[in-house]
Amino acid sequence: MVPLTKIGPGGEFPPLRIGPGERVFVLTGAGISAESGVATFRDAGGLWERHRIEDVATPEGFARDPRLVWRFYSERRKQAGAVQPNPAHLALARLGRRLGPAAEGGLGPTLVAVTEGVKSVLPGRLFLCTQNVDPLHEKAGSTGVAHMHGELLRTRCESCDRPPFPDESLHLEGVPRCDCGARLRPHVVWFGEVPLGLPEIFEALNDCDLFVTVGSSGAVYPAAGFVSHLRNVPNVRGQFARCVYVGLEKPENAHSFDECRLGKAGDLLPTLFEIAPAS
Ligand code: APR
Repeated sequence: MVPLTKIGPGGEFPPLRIGPGERVFVLTGAGISAESGVATFRDAGGLWERHRIEDVATPEGFARDPRLVWRFYSERRKQAGAVQPNPAHLALARLGRRLGPAAEGGLGPTLVAVTEGVKSVLPGRLFLCTQNVDPLHEKAGSTGVAHMHGELLRTRCESCDRPPFPDESLHLEGVPRCDCGARLRPHVVWFGEVPLGLPEIFEALNDCDLFVTVGSSGAVYPAAGFVSHLRNVPNVRGQFARCVYVGLEKPENAHSFDECRLGKAGDLLPTLFEIAPAS
């Protein structure tokens, strides 16, 4: 029988112990960037209250009105340049360093490599996967971050096989074109599109002992389904991973977690983890 989820203020839980050699998978959502001033999607005043998903976050919306879509992402690019990581981002960067650096093989470069058939297993004991398109994890010092929904500060051609490239330019009026003549689009995964790097993500999920989700409402799949996957599938060592949620309020998939630690990520993450010395 699946044990009941413990739900309560984060401060009432002991630190999360990471045993010798244990591997950690952290999934972050918009809530981790809220304290940096980046709007979430579904909270009061969130992006989806001010913009129609159909218009700005679907391939159909881009086909219908690419100017509107570029204006939307250009506004977000402008803001991304002005915001700074908060203590939650910094805590995960520290954890990454303490659990061994992830190879520079995150989703950005690796995806390109994957396209050319190169696969890489990250040597570090932390796999950091984010649904966020902002660069705040990298600004905080994290490396090898798996951006499963793409990156705001990257652009790609919607037609030729030019790899996604770094791009902070704003297009508040027009629609940029590729050298091949086709339209350029933000390197962001829209609704109805397949997230990036799922094979590597599931490889890391099946190899984790501790799964932590931070600041995500559990409304969007496949990310919201990672925890129920771990509930049903033991890892490569035959053990079920411990699953913990950290966020302001109970997520829609709360029942699949062992614990839901409620509170602000910036308050809870700096003291969340306790790393056991190597045995
Ligand atoms: N600390 C921790 N959690 C917070 C904080 C905070 N300071 N502020 C808000 N939250 C929580 C909210 O309670 C909410 O549950 O963060 C969650 C944000 O949920 P959403 O806005 O739904 O964002 P997310 O889950 O990341 O959305 C998933 O949906 O719109 C698409 O592609 C987009 O990646 C996005 C995906």
